[in-house]
Amino acid sequence: MDEKPQMEPQRPNRRPKPPPSTVHFYVIAFLTIIALQSLAFHQSQTQTHLPQNYPHFHPLKDPTIPPYTHPNKTWFMSTLTATTAIPGMPEHLVFPSSKPTHHLCIDPHRKSYTISTTTNATVLTGLTFVADTYYDYNNPWHALNALSPFLAWGGCKLRPKRFVLFKRGDVGVEGVGGWVEGVMRAALGGGFRIDGLMGYGGVVCLERAVVMRRGLGGMSSGRRYGLFGMLRCKGWEYCGVGGDGGRREREGEVRIALVGREGMRRSFRNESGVRLVMERECGRIVGCSLKLIHFDNMSFCDQVREMRNSDILASIHGAQMTNMMFMPPGSGVMEMYPKGWLEGAGIGQYTYQWFANWSQMSYEGSWRDTEGPDCDHSQCFKDRQVGLNETFLAEWTRRVVRRHGCRKAQASAGGDVTKGCSCD
Ligand SMILES: *[C@@H]1O[C@H](CO)[C@@H](O)[C@H](O)[C@H]1NC(C)=O
Ligand SMILES: *[C@@H]1O[C@H](CO)[C@@H](O)[C@H](O)[C@H]1NC(C)=O
Ligand SMILES: *[C@@H]1O[C@H](CO)[C@@H](O)[C@H](O)[C@H]1NC(C)=O
Ligand SMILES: *[C@@H]1O[C@H](CO)[C@@H](O)[C@H](O)[C@H]1NC(C)=O
Ligand SMILES: *[C@@H]1O[C@H](CO)[C@@H](O)[C@H](O)[C@H]1NC(C)=O
Ligand SMILES: *[C@@H]1O[C@H](CO)[C@@H](O)[C@H](O)[C@H]1NC(C)=O
Repeated sequence: MDEKPQMEPQRPNRRPKPPPSTVHFYVIAFLTIIALQSLAFHQSQTQTHLPQNYPHFHPLKDPTIPPYTHPNKTWFMSTLTATTAIPGMPEHLVFPSSKPTHHLCIDPHRKSYTISTTTNATVLTGLTFVADTYYDYNNPWHALNALSPFLAWGGCKLRPKRFVLFKRGDVGVEGVGGWVEGVMRAALGGGFRIDGLMGYGGVVCLERAVVMRRGLGGMSSGRRYGLFGMLRCKGWEYCGVGGDGGRREREGEVRIALVGREGMRRSFRNESGVRLVMERECGRIVGCSLKLIHFDNMSFCDQVREMRNSDILASIHGAQMTNMMFMPPGSGVMEMYPKGWLEGAGIGQYTYQWFANWSQMSYEGSWRDTEGPDCDHSQCFKDRQVGLNETFLAEWTRRVVRRHGCRKAQASAGGDVTKGCSCD
């Protein structure tokens, strides 16, 4: 049996028609279960025979492929190859695949999967989104990377019945971080259900499924602009901060959000000093204001509200910066790095520079701390605090605030930014 499914070319943002074979699938699955149950009853002393066409199961994680090192191969469901693609969308697989109708079936206990027309299995009806990530569903950036491509594929009108989330090929993820849950609820209009698949006691087949295993990797910039524009709009709408954000903005106003973090990990060593220096520069410019914010214990909508009412985000490289997507388009981003990132971190250190662009924001440069001892072990830079160069920070703040003051004075002549969300 050919187990490489043909990927059905799907137009994004359209609800796919249920396959004509759906009813047959239920009937066959149901009859199979009944038949096998009675078989099991009569032959309870003997070994159950697998039907002739019982498909071969593959490990979810292919041990022969190293994780995430090959651009065209993936260890997760490695026997599945997408043969066609929607232009600009990351690689994804759509089931049932055509000719003949093949469904994705997962054995969560044996950590394996197969593609089958019929199996002795629980059938989960409706559409299931299946994702795998190498990282973490609690980290806003990594979770957004893993889950948002589905929103590009389906728009905000197509609501899946459930998400099945794998972490490094392991099933059983039952929840995600509160921030990304907020993003998903906002985009999907409330319905965001995660199914860990462990409660069914055996093989689970998905009536319809879309699998994404590369996150945003491979998505065209055009589609990224569309996706993050939609997510901004949906977040504002969900949190009730669309339109003028509940209050009138003064002309040429520039509102700085200085975002710090709790604890010792990538926080400011002298937060009050950073605030003082930026506030002093801000105070010299008409219309400028600054607010020090910690997202750590803030609800999703409180974070969205803070960002919606800010024009400049100044923060330390970290997942809290993912919130920039809820700032008004054209807003500015100032990023700071602890010592060691330039040398120690890979290409991922430029994430928020790219993300600023995808969110239609203006990246206003970065500052890298040079003070302190060198790293004595390879990852030490990750957990460091960020210091302060008063001269640099003052000059940088002045330059960025002036630029945005001019931009906003021009923009306010142009009118409103939100008039309902486009999900196309
Ligand atoms: C079908 O499922 C039943 C119940 O889970 C099990 O007892 C039986 O052995 C299974 N048969 C096959 C062929 O897997
Ligand atoms: C990956 O696929 C692309 C497009 O088919 C191809 O150009 C490239 O050479 C492949 N890379 C490797 C390492 O096989
Ligand atoms: C923090 O920075 C401010 C402004 O530069 C400075 O006046 C203050 O002494 C610093 N505090 C510490 C503890 O270094
Ligand atoms: C935020 O929450 C954490 C963990 O729940 C707690 O330890 C911390 O004290 C809280 N911080 C603030 C500022 O409330
Ligand atoms: C994003 O990057 C593209 C390509 O470099 C550039 O043309 C565009 O102006 C950038 N957009 C913003 C908002 O900076
Ligand atoms: C602080 O910034 C100024 C202006 O960019 C620079 O000339 C100076 O060398 C910096 N000081 C340190 C200690 O890095």
